Amino acid sequence: MRSHYCGDIRSSDVGEEVEIYGWVHRRRDHGGVIFLDVRDRTGILQVVFDPDTQESFAAADSVRNEFVLKAKGKVRPRPEGTANADMPTGEIEVLGLELTVLNAAKTPPFQLDEHSEAGEDIRLRYRYLDLRRPEMQQRMQTRAKITSQVRSFLEENGFWDIETPTLSRATPEGARDYLVPSRTHPGEFFALPQSPQVYKQLLMMSGMDKYYQIARCYRDEDLRADRQPEFTQIDIEASFTSQDQIMTMTEGMLRQVFTNVLGVELGEFPIITWADAMRGFGNDRPDLRNPMRLVDVADLMSAVEFKVFQGPANDPKGRVVALRAPGGATLSRKVIDQYTAFVGRYGAKGLAYVKVNDLSAGADGLQSPILKFMPTDVIQSVLERVGAQTGDLVFFGADQAKVVNDAMGALRNELGADLALLEGEFKPCWVVDWPMFAEGRDGTFSAEHHPFTRPTCTPQELFENPGAAQAAAYDVVLNGYELGGGSLRIHDQNMQKAVFDVLKMDEEGQEKFGFLLEALQYGCPPHGGIALGLDRLVMLMTDSQSIREVIAFPKTQTASCAMMDAPGSVEEQQLRDLHIRIRTPAKAVNSEGS
Ligand code: AMO
Ligand code: AMP
Repeated sequence: MRSHYCGDIRSSDVGEEVEIYGWVHRRRDHGGVIFLDVRDRTGILQVVFDPDTQESFAAADSVRNEFVLKAKGKVRPRPEGTANADMPTGEIEVLGLELTVLNAAKTPPFQLDEHSEAGEDIRLRYRYLDLRRPEMQQRMQTRAKITSQVRSFLEENGFWDIETPTLSRATPEGARDYLVPSRTHPGEFFALPQSPQVYKQLLMMSGMDKYYQIARCYRDEDLRADRQPEFTQIDIEASFTSQDQIMTMTEGMLRQVFTNVLGVELGEFPIITWADAMRGFGNDRPDLRNPMRLVDVADLMSAVEFKVFQGPANDPKGRVVALRAPGGATLSRKVIDQYTAFVGRYGAKGLAYVKVNDLSAGADGLQSPILKFMPTDVIQSVLERVGAQTGDLVFFGADQAKVVNDAMGALRNELGADLALLEGEFKPCWVVDWPMFAEGRDGTFSAEHHPFTRPTCTPQELFENPGAAQAAAYDVVLNGYELGGGSLRIHDQNMQKAVFDVLKMDEEGQEKFGFLLEALQYGCPPHGGIALGLDRLVMLMTDSQSIREVIAFPKTQTASCAMMDAPGSVEEQQLRDLHIRIRTPAKAVNSEGS
């Protein structure tokens, strides 16, 4: 029986006989003495075999990386001068007395040390090996600790963990659904939930009062580093509550998680309106570690000769901003060209700039391709407004507001990282006072959050001017990531109908939610909630580059599983049972035909 985990043995165990189980992390042959680094999920332990113990020495000699072992031995201090301060077990070693090989292993397709250079495709193909790496094991452990803290916080605060179905109907969170064909109802499909939104609202109508669930959600959407087709939400709903109460509770939960898992005390959660976020950061998920801000300068540009600025400055849908890059005057032409190409990806047609080589020298101290088009006093006013100092560079963006926000918001993030301007480790904030709807180019409206979000106006006002309607919605943002979003919900069926109408949901669409409209008539309490992306939280707390690093078996960028080769084709009979006939995609037909 195991007496110790490998990583737990310390100097205080010297003299003890131990029995350990694990994998060969590394094997070294030092002139007749064999060192095995044996690894389990707690860490790595050095086990030494010398030729005196003939049988076990021979066994140690035969093992290779990733063999599975059982070893017995005696803990002893490492000889003078050989302690390894980088390893928690680095002061001791185990003199191996018995060794049993429990299983052999093929040579792994990539090195399993901490800084594996292996590409992600091979790591995902052999995920079970990748997960053996200490770094990955720590991530999984941290994830488990986070979930456990979330549960204990919510349970202490009176929330009940209630499961909701995953074979469900379409839920309107804005992505495509994953569909599951029904065998018993030919031609009909379940949808996997994009979130438990409707169920958790129904649970409030059922009088459950406070609900939570660590819920799996499914969304067929374009994937990015912070998006997976299936992901996990910390999903929360409460009755007879207010926006303040939900925000305070969420903050309390995040504080407890950060304190108890990382020993980090989160600072303030500033509350920023959506409009201010768009103004200062160009997006609704500001990274507050970055001190740079977008500064409006349209008022200064309305009469300048430079059409690139003057046009948007006089267009109600236009925007002209300046962005001060501290210390940016040293940026080379080549680097500035790269940033120009970067903003181009967001639709910007150029990236004007002024280098402030010497603020005290007036126009002579400035360097810029646009100086010739701009009166000196305008430039001076801009420099004053953005607080420019000698050695800075000021970028400009002028276009339709959306293009400027997208391009200059992204540039702000890029520069913050490139110029090493980020301050502090974790900077959360709330974004509040959201518009209820986003207006498309064709004048149609879509819900900014989801159609169950409560507008702050009356149904009449909503109908008359949907574009101006605000929602009782709130997002919690951490380091530039949308960590969670929530809202107070509509509990009045007339308001719910008004929202469906603004969204031009046709009768068929509304029928889908007929049960909800009906439920609203049977004594629905006022309620609200929030959902946080667990994967994103773990990614940020483990300082990982992508949520794929904190999900045991994630999907690839193309939404497939490289290890199991899923999705895959199925037997003809299965399709028959499901009443499904496959239409070969046009491309495949063409290539067959040619
Ligand atoms: P929302 O759609 O904002 O709200 O989702 C809540 C949080 O879930 C996370 N998230 C994702 N994480 C990984 N991959 C994805 N594809 C993905 N999509 C979303 C984000 C996001 O903030 N029902 C509402 C919540 C509510 O109103 O209570 C909802 O799902 O961190
Ligand atoms: P141009 O007159 O087009 O050569 O542009 C002069 C300067 O303005 C160049 O530095 C361009 O990169 C920049 N510029 C052009 N269009 C825009 C724009 N929409 N926003 C900001 N800068 C721009």
